[in-house]
Amino acid sequence: MTDALAAPPPAKPSPYHDLPVLWVRHWTDQLFSFAVQRPEDFRFRSGEFVMIGLPGEDGGKPVLRAYSVASPCWAEELEFFSIKVPDGPLTSRLQKIQAGDRVLMGKKPTGTLVLDALTGGERLHLIGTGTGLAPWLSVARDPDTYARFGRVIVSHTVRNVADLAYRDFFSAGIHDDPLVGEEARAQLTYYPTVTREPFETPGRITERIKSGDYFRDLGIDGGFDPARDRVMLCGSMAMIKETAALLEEFGLREGSNAEPADYVLERAFVG
Ligand SMILES: Cc1cc2nc3c(=O)[nH]c(=O)nc-3n(C[C@H](O)[C@H](O)[C@H](O)COP(=O)(O)OP(=O)(O)OC[C@H]3O[C@@H](n4cnc5c(N)ncnc54)[C@H](O)[C@@H]3O)c2cc1C
Ligand SMILES: NC(=O)c1ccc[n+]([C@@H]2O[C@H](COP(=O)([O-])OP(=O)(O)OC[C@H]3O[C@@H](n4cnc5c(N)ncnc54)[C@H](OP(=O)(O)O)[C@@H]3O)[C@@H](O)[C@H]2O)c1
Repeated sequence: MTDALAAPPPAKPSPYHDLPVLWVRHWTDQLFSFAVQRPEDFRFRSGEFVMIGLPGEDGGKPVLRAYSVASPCWAEELEFFSIKVPDGPLTSRLQKIQAGDRVLMGKKPTGTLVLDALTGGERLHLIGTGTGLAPWLSVARDPDTYARFGRVIVSHTVRNVADLAYRDFFSAGIHDDPLVGEEARAQLTYYPTVTREPFETPGRITERIKSGDYFRDLGIDGGFDPARDRVMLCGSMAMIKETAALLEEFGLREGSNAEPADYVLERAFVG
């Protein structure tokens, strides 16, 4: 037997990138963000999601979960905005990562919260609850968004004011972004709502749409208009279902990558 025959078969390439964590920011005891180094060959469209994970404990299988990429498609680092579920198989451990640690990332981004899945329009409404804000951080930092829509509204509904992660960024920080700052200043409106403590725009986004407050606050006459408005939804399944039903009442139709239309949706978690 020769040495060549005795050699083990070549290892299968891993389906995951193994990436260094660049930074971690904790917003509350339930929410944090982190970034990893972008692999050179990793391409994605703003608004897509990818699998993120950690190696299994005691040599077990890796634990992976879907995560929206919060960075725009041109970014050099990949940012993620995460919940901390105390007994969650992934996030009970992921919430402890620090700069220099490593996380796994799937190689195939996918998703429907992309400009490609919408037909042309004048106003883009990005409606999210909780960590369902993550894809808007990507879409709102993409110059294409402002080239395609004259007005962009980022709506974020959370329980408590402290849960309004990225509030400073959407209120001011994005205006200094080297690529989209000028456009964001002129075209972007940030619309936070809070459900469980007093706030200037209180209540669920669904209630504010139904009452007409959403449109009054934004200076939009007559509600959603299928000829002018395009919508993306991300967050709890209940919010998505209710809002999609409202959009259908206004005459908007759901789109997909294969068949672009007026609105698209993606649950950020079950519940
Ligand atoms: C397409 C898609 C995109 C997603 N993007 C994100 C993202 O960008 N950021 C993010 O934090 N999570 C996101 N999720 C949820 C994520 O995949 C995991 O569920 C989450 O990381 C918790 O993992 P876990 O293993 O700790 O707990 P799991 O066993 O996965 O979840 C336990 C329970 O916690 C609750 N829960 C899970 N995730 C959330 C959440 N994000 N917000 C509120 N409650 C939640 C649900 O009730 C769930 O049943 C996404 C899910 C999908 C399907
Ligand atoms: N964030 C917190 O302060 C907090 C505190 C304790 C525990 N947790 C746990 O963390 C997990 C995630 O909490 P989360 O706050 O990120 O997510 P969440 O429970 O989905 O709530 C996020 C926001 O979405 C709103 N919402 C829920 N259903 C809706 C619907 N059908 N239409 C419109 N809006 C809707 C909620 O309003 P409502 O407030 O009206 O439901 C809330 O403002 C939960 O499993 C929870 O047990 C969170």
